[in-house]
Order: sequence, then structure tokens, then C-alpha cells
Amino acid sequence: MADGTTLESTSPAAGIAPARFPFTAEVEAATAPIWNKLKSRVTPLEWRLHAPLIAEINRLKREKNAVILAHNYMTPEIFHGVGDYVGDSLGLAREAARSDAAVIVQAGVHFMAETSKVLCPDKTVLIPDLLAGCSLASSITAADVRMIKARYPGVPVVTYVNTTAEVKAETDICCTSANAVQVVEQAAREWGVDRVILIPDEFLARNVARQTAVKIIAWAGRCEVHERFTGADIAELRAAYPGAQILAHPECPTDVIEASDFTGSTAAMSDFVATRKPAQVVLITECSMADNVAVDAPETEFVRPCNLCPHMKRISLENIYEALRHDRYEVTVDAAVIERARAAVQRMIDLPPPAVPARYDLVKARHHVDVELI
Ligand code: 13P
Ligand code: SF4
Repeated sequence: MADGTTLESTSPAAGIAPARFPFTAEVEAATAPIWNKLKSRVTPLEWRLHAPLIAEINRLKREKNAVILAHNYMTPEIFHGVGDYVGDSLGLAREAARSDAAVIVQAGVHFMAETSKVLCPDKTVLIPDLLAGCSLASSITAADVRMIKARYPGVPVVTYVNTTAEVKAETDICCTSANAVQVVEQAAREWGVDRVILIPDEFLARNVARQTAVKIIAWAGRCEVHERFTGADIAELRAAYPGAQILAHPECPTDVIEASDFTGSTAAMSDFVATRKPAQVVLITECSMADNVAVDAPETEFVRPCNLCPHMKRISLENIYEALRHDRYEVTVDAAVIERARAAVQRMIDLPPPAVPARYDLVKARHHVDVELI
């Protein structure tokens, strides 16, 4: 394949000369182990474009003492090609906290980069595209949280990590979909109360409410990717693929979770496939998840209904390369915000990690529980 194909960087950034990297024998040799992993998912044509950038990014990482934290929703050439740490939001936050690299490149969305900055204020944290947002993070502001606290004095505020640092700064403790039930119960115990505010994802809050005796007060934020799946979609999939295991992310509506075989964070879904090796599986989540898991699960057939996250998809090999080359875009958070947000994130990080990625109990998930919507 060393055919001298050249790549023109497609970075949207103005004023930067396109980089040209040939697909040389040297590049081919350096990236051979990654190609061996990815060749079931990536065509040789695509690989000739990806490989030179992967080699160059991996070289720049060494030169700059940088690590790339890549979320499970990154495309396979990023996830398997340049990610040093890959996983769900909780796993990436833990990795950021223990990293000794000088530079963290967040291959994910802006709130994840802010979380890394909050946990590592002395490091340079870069995001390849500042517009990689999240519908949940933009559904609530710090002023909203102050209003909520005034309305429910003495009730602890648990905030999903899919929020800005300013929102986290108003928060008592953070959670992710991997530990939301654990965090809600911990907060209720610590505060000596029987109800907890869990914001901003309404569906996560409704799904968590069914897993615990703690009463939940919720905010009407939605993930624009997961809210689009419906119970009717699951019924259709069941009819078409009767033997398939259906795994759904807890940001999905309750009727989707009720009809599924398993619910957990992206890491928990990945763990399910790796350990149970189902013959056929459907991942009710963002599209790249199945692509990434499938690379390590050749014995499993993946049925692929999916919704793309337009924010996650803003990250590409091209802009990761530009980020490393030009130290951009640096994510900054006000020092006072860092201090307050850090307390909430650190409280979550300090909880004992679950022995296996937390799973939602589907018997409980099928029983309706009321939540109070703010
Ligand atoms: P996880 O924490 O499960 O990786 O989810 C993050 C996310 O943004 C899902 O939409
Ligand atoms: Fe946000 Fe949903 Fe995209 Fe995750 S998938 S980053 S929750 S919009």
C-alpha cells in the first residue's frame, strides 16, 4: 500500500497551510499494528489517508509529552489509532486526574475538556474544535442552578458531568451514567435526606429514579442523540432480530430502557459485549460506539441503528493534528470556578470505583416511579 498517496489536511482553520503527508513505507510499518486491528472496519483507501496522520499525531504526542483522551464515540481511526486512554466520561475523568503528561488533548466534547482542566489546572488542555458542545450541557446555566438551590434549600444537587464547569461549580457532587445511582444514594446518606436534585438530563433522572428509593427532582434537559430512540424502534428491532441482545444508554427515554436487555454507560456496554460475547447485539447509542467495540469483538454481529452526535463528530484526525501542532484550542476555566467545580468532581472521583461497570436493574427499570420536574 506504500503508493505515495498524499494527504491534504482538511482542517477548517483559516490561515494554516495544508499539511501534506505521503503514505510511505515507513508510515506503513509504523502503523501496521493499528491497521491489523482496523482492517475489518476501514477500507485500504481510507487507511492510506488516515495512516500518515496517525503516525504524525503519535510522533507529536511524544515530542510534546501529550496524551489523547478519546471518548467511546470517537471514530475508530481516532479511538484505536491515536487514543492513549479510551472510555466513558467517568473513565476519562479518572485518567485526566492521574495523568502526568504536560498536555491533554480531549478527543471528545467541550464539557469533557473542561472536566480535565478542572482536575488538572496546571496542564494545558486542548480541544480540537471549540464548537464540540453537548445539548445537555447547553440545557442549563449556573444561574438556573442557583435558582434551583434557592427553591429547594437543604436538598443536595447532583450534577451530570455533561455540564459546564460553571454549572459544576454550583453543584454538591457530580455523577456520570456509570455511577449516577451510587452518587444519588451517597448524597442522600451524607445530607441525611430522602430526595436529591439530579440535573440536567431528564431521562437519566427518570431511569435513575427507578433504581433507588431516593426521590428525584429533575430538570428537563435532553441528549439530542438518545432522545430520538423510541420504544417503537426497539419493538421493530426485536421483531427483525429476535435473537439480538439490545443494549441502551441511560440517556434514552424510559420506554426504550424498559424494552431493552441491558442498560449502562458506554463503558458498561463495551464490557457487556467483551464478557458475554453475544452472537448478535444492538447498541442503542451513538454510531461510532458499535464500530469501536466491533473491532475487538469479531465473534459478535452488530445490528447498527444509531444516531450521530454532531458534536462528537466535529473531532477528526485532521483537527487533532492541528491541535497538537499549534497548541490549540486551549481550554481555560476561571480559577475560582475551577476550585468550586473541582470539589464536586473530586467527590465523585473519590467514590470507590465499581468492581464491574454499573448496570441498571431492568426489573426495577420497568416499574414506573414519579420524578418531580422543576
Ligand atoms: P458515557 O459517560 O456513558 O460515556 O456517556 C457520555 C455521553 O455523552 C453519552 O451521550
Ligand atoms: Fe451530549 Fe448526547 Fe452528544 Fe453525549 S451524545 S455529547 S450527551 S449530545
